[in-house]
Formats: sequence, C-alpha cells, structure tokens
Amino acid sequence: MKFSERIVWVTGASSGIGEATAQAFAREGAHLVLSSRRPDELARVGQSCLHPERHTILPLDLTASETFAAAVGTVLARHGRIDVLINNGGSGQRALAADTTTEVERALMEVNYFGPVALTKAVLPAMRAQRSGHIVVISSVMGHLGTPGRSTYAAAKHALHGYFDSLRAELSPEGLKVTVVCPGYVKTAIAENALGPRGEKTRGPSTALRSGISPQRCAAAILRAVDRASDEIYVGRWEICGIYLQRFLPWLLRRIVRKMKFSVHAPR
Ligand SMILES: NC(=O)c1ccc[n+]([C@@H]2O[C@H](COP(=O)([O-])OP(=O)(O)OC[C@H]3O[C@@H](n4cnc5c(N)ncnc54)[C@H](OP(=O)(O)O)[C@@H]3O)[C@@H](O)[C@H]2O)c1
Repeated sequence: MKFSERIVWVTGASSGIGEATAQAFAREGAHLVLSSRRPDELARVGQSCLHPERHTILPLDLTASETFAAAVGTVLARHGRIDVLINNGGSGQRALAADTTTEVERALMEVNYFGPVALTKAVLPAMRAQRSGHIVVISSVMGHLGTPGRSTYAAAKHALHGYFDSLRAELSPEGLKVTVVCPGYVKTAIAENALGPRGEKTRGPSTALRSGISPQRCAAAILRAVDRASDEIYVGRWEICGIYLQRFLPWLLRRIVRKMKFSVHAPR
C-alpha cells in the first residue's frame, strides 16, 4: 500500500473529485481527514471509504480562515501529523463577466484562492516541524486559459499557479513538495453548484462536463502525482490540448475561445 498510515487531509471531500480522491487514498492505507461544509455528506463519504473508523470528519468552511488554526489543532491532536493536504474544495462560475457582481467575484476568490492559501499556511508549521509534507492544489485547465462565463473562476485558478509555483520553490530546500493538478472536464456536481451572476445556483450540468472523465479517473491521477511528487499534472481528454495551444499557439487558442458560446442558464 502506497500511503499506509499516512495522514491525508482532503478538502471538498463531500462530493465529486474530493470524494473519489478520499476513497482512493483510503484504499492505499491512508488515514483521512475529510473536510467541507456538509457534515452529513462527509459522514457518508467516510463510511464509503476503507476502514471508516480511521478517518476524521472535520467540517470546515473554506471562506472562514479564522477557524483554520483550530482545525489544524484538531487534526494534530487526533493524528499527530499531516502528511498530505489536498486543497480540492472550490466553487464554479456560470456568469458573464459584465453581469457578475463584485460580491460574487469576491466569494469566488475567497473559496477558490484565499481559502486554500490560508489553509496551506495553517498546515505548514506542522509539516516544517516534521521535515516532510506534501501540499496538493486542484487548479483546472482554467488555471492556464480563460473562456466565456468563467472570468473570476479562471482568475482564481490562475492565481493559484502563481502562488503555489512560488511556494514550491521556497519549500524545496526543506524537502516539502507542492503539486498542482489541472483537470479538464470531470463528471461532478460542479455545474449545479456553480454561482450565477448574483450568487444564485444555475440550472443543470453542461454538456461538456457530461462528456468528461469520471471523478475516479481524476482521483487515480492525483494519487499517482502525489506518489511521484509531480510538480504539475494535466488530467482529462481533448480539452487538455488547450493548455498546449496556450503555450505554443496562443493566437489559435484565442481564435477558438472567441467562437465559444456561453448561454446564461436560468437560475434554479
Ligand atoms: N469537475 C470539473 O470538471 C473540474 C475541472 C477542473 C477543476 N475542478 C476543481 O475540482 C475541485 C472539486 O470540484 P468538483 O468538480 O468535485 O465539484 P463538486 O462536486 O461541486 O465539489 C466541490 C466540493 O467543494 C466543497 N466546497 C464548496 N464550497 C466550499 C466552502 N465554502 N467551504 C468548504 N468546502 C466547500 C463542496 O462541499 P460542501 O458543499 O459540503 O461544502 C464539495 O465537496 C474544485 O476545486 C474545482 O474547481 C473541477
């Protein structure tokens, strides 16, 4: 077992990629800390993992950074160390830039950028004291490019790359690892949970998401990336090509993106 007795903390563990990632690490012997806002869903996921009695359910709102120090204290009191932090929790956007209120933009930055950064900083002292640790952050293809209807989401994911690339370099002399994961389309509830222009939830999953890979396949790639201590990985199908186009043929990508349609979904 690759992660036997390792303490792995997964945020956004109540559904989608986080749920599948938790289950995958549990199969490899990890002791999990499962966090998100919904304790009932976390309990369900905990029970679905191998050895449910080993895992800790720790409700946490990523927008409440003032609670993170106490949360880290709880994890250390129960498990004594933190080997891997998987910053996965996040929220999507389905709104044109001109229609999105500043409040919604701030909320998206809070959950997708400031939350993971603050939680990482809260966990770092323990990892430094252990002289080992691995920070993982789930970015997106949108961390490399922007498409219609995703302006603030793309901005938050781009920001993660700048921050965690710098952090990786700073931590490397101490042997601490940082992995950035860029999924393409993954079949999860992200579209249903995405915020509309004024923060309302939008209707139904997008067709592109329905054609995406399974959360289990994404989780397997995350596990492999942690095992290999990869700096950055791309996970998905054809949409991953966007990252290479952005790097090598940016003018072509811009032309394609300009033709992409974004239809505003009615609020639910
Ligand atoms: N699905 C995709 O195609 C895709 C592609 C690229 C990147 N990603 C990224 O993958 C990550 C997981 O998304 P997913 O696709 O699995 O979507 P999901 O099924 O909607 O899961 C999102 C998770 O984030 C948690 N969350 C949301 N707001 C939170 C908050 N304020 N505090 C704490 N937890 C919060 C949710 O739990 P609670 O509601 O219980 O709090 C849930 O567990 C996100 O960072 C997303 O940006 C997804």
